[in-house]
Amino acid sequence: MMSCPIWITNFKTYEQCVGKKALELAKIHEKVALETGVSIGIAVNAFDLFRVAQEVKIPVFAQHCDPVDYGAHTGHLLAQSIKKTGAIGTLLNHSERRLSFADLQDSEVCARKASLTRVVCAEDPQEIEKFAWLNPDFLAFEPPELIGSSTASVSTSKPESIAESVSLSRGIPVLVGAGIQSVADVKIALELGASGFLVASAITKAEDPEATLRELVSAF
Ligand code: G3P
Repeated sequence: MMSCPIWITNFKTYEQCVGKKALELAKIHEKVALETGVSIGIAVNAFDLFRVAQEVKIPVFAQHCDPVDYGAHTGHLLAQSIKKTGAIGTLLNHSERRLSFADLQDSEVCARKASLTRVVCAEDPQEIEKFAWLNPDFLAFEPPELIGSSTASVSTSKPESIAESVSLSRGIPVLVGAGIQSVADVKIALELGASGFLVASAITKAEDPEATLRELVSAF
């Protein structure tokens, strides 16, 4: 289990983060984690998961897991297979890979059975309250309209929703994401009770991802 505050970079399917580049970016995260002592993980697309998880010592997450057990489920992402890659956990219900509540419940159970750390994503504080009952390891609050923004962040645009999410999470650590790009964004969210971050573009699109990552986690 990672110790809070934590940082997870979501590689999504950005061109800078697939194939050989996924491994290079993963190595950068490993280096920064080792040198700073910050709990840093990465969420990697399914095709790069095995290679990356085998090559780095930081926590690696899948970006999605389907609600299926062993059996005839062509094309699905099986929790047990995720575990066998060496990944430690999975994101569930990311805003770009939404699940029905029934499927989210089942995916959470499948991932739990495979001993994966579960990060359940929510779009607003009401979903945080609802999903907290699933008892995941982490909840992640990401307002969809701010995801990928380079001009506004959840910290500057929705600070009250961060505080509300933390208060409704029943003690489950809340990560925040969407437009996080500055040390000020990180500090605001931590002051409001966030236990960590789920970030993509600030790192994946940075000219110098290592320097940017170092700068952002320096606020920890
Ligand atoms: O999962 C992370 C995410 O959706 C936030 O993306 O690009 O706003 O940091 P971004």
